[in-house]
Amino acid sequence: MSEGALQTDFMTLTRFVLEEQRKIPGATGELTQLLNSLLTAIKAVSSAVRQAGIAKLYGIAGGTNVTGDEQKKLDVLANDLFINSLRSSFTTCALISEENETVIEVEAEQRGKYIVAFDPLDGSSNIDCLVSIGSIFGIWRNGTSDAPTKEQIMQPGRKMVAAGYALYGSATMVVLSAAGTVNGFMLDPAIGEFILTERNIRIKPRGKIYSINEGYTELWADAIKEYVESKKKTTEERAAYGSRYIGSMVADMHRTLVYGGIFLYPAHKKSPKGKLRLFYESNPMAYIVEHAGGLATTGEENILDIQPTSIHQRCPVIMGSSEDVKDFLAIVEKHKK
Ligand code: AHM
Ligand code: MG
Repeated sequence: MSEGALQTDFMTLTRFVLEEQRKIPGATGELTQLLNSLLTAIKAVSSAVRQAGIAKLYGIAGGTNVTGDEQKKLDVLANDLFINSLRSSFTTCALISEENETVIEVEAEQRGKYIVAFDPLDGSSNIDCLVSIGSIFGIWRNGTSDAPTKEQIMQPGRKMVAAGYALYGSATMVVLSAAGTVNGFMLDPAIGEFILTERNIRIKPRGKIYSINEGYTELWADAIKEYVESKKKTTEERAAYGSRYIGSMVADMHRTLVYGGIFLYPAHKKSPKGKLRLFYESNPMAYIVEHAGGLATTGEENILDIQPTSIHQRCPVIMGSSEDVKDFLAIVEKHKK
């Protein structure tokens, strides 16, 4: 293409998913339709985030969600956008949202075969100061379009068919893991399409950054304290690690995926299961990290193997570059003796 000429052929996210779908014999296109509806919601959230100030979307909406957090106007808006878009896609039979106490059922005439869990706007404490926020989603198959039973909803993360996140950062990006690979798509606001910019994302085996809220140090178990201290020291093999913590899981995990390193939200004395929610925060991120060649653990077990018992349950999260997570697990093992 000559310099200055307009590009006339794009690998959009929709085209990418359609091409992947054609490789699967007997695929009906329902997952493609579902992903398209998620993209519509994400584009609308991105637009709302970008004009939040002018549209007076900052501030508290007046309610609290199930975990007691204050809901922001943008939280409420993003939740409505996700629910409406997914419901009207005719591809889902049950929705799990961070913002809704119970499973959102989809009426029989709108039902499809997928269960979707999502955090419509994660990192809400960062909204009012313009720090990056994101949306996270995980998709499970129900098999039939009957209303799912509790057992059909309580599936471990390993059973997901796709997972992804949208990062509303200096640009809007969707990272999607489906069919065994992880790919990144940047929103081109001029044409309103997500364009494939990062093909087959692989996380480095070892990074140089650790990411944890160190304000909780006095509440941590000794193994966590020892691990974090060990990262601050230069050894014969490596320099001391750098520290980065944004406080938005999507932004912290996107950096970890791109640069390598480790992200930790462990349990601590006041929060014995950690903070992050299994269905719509830990599982989708663990799925992406594993498919990019990294590891995701609670310290006791692989996050994707957890058998859930309730839709808002929490779990400790330690994920990122495989060698970094292995170092962490070695210290945990040492402390068990
Ligand atoms: P939220 O769902 O209420 O936004 O909380 C989740 C966020 C994550 O994005 C982030 O990793 C974590 O909370 C930060 O928590 P803390 O302020 O305790 O470090
Ligand atoms: Mg959240």
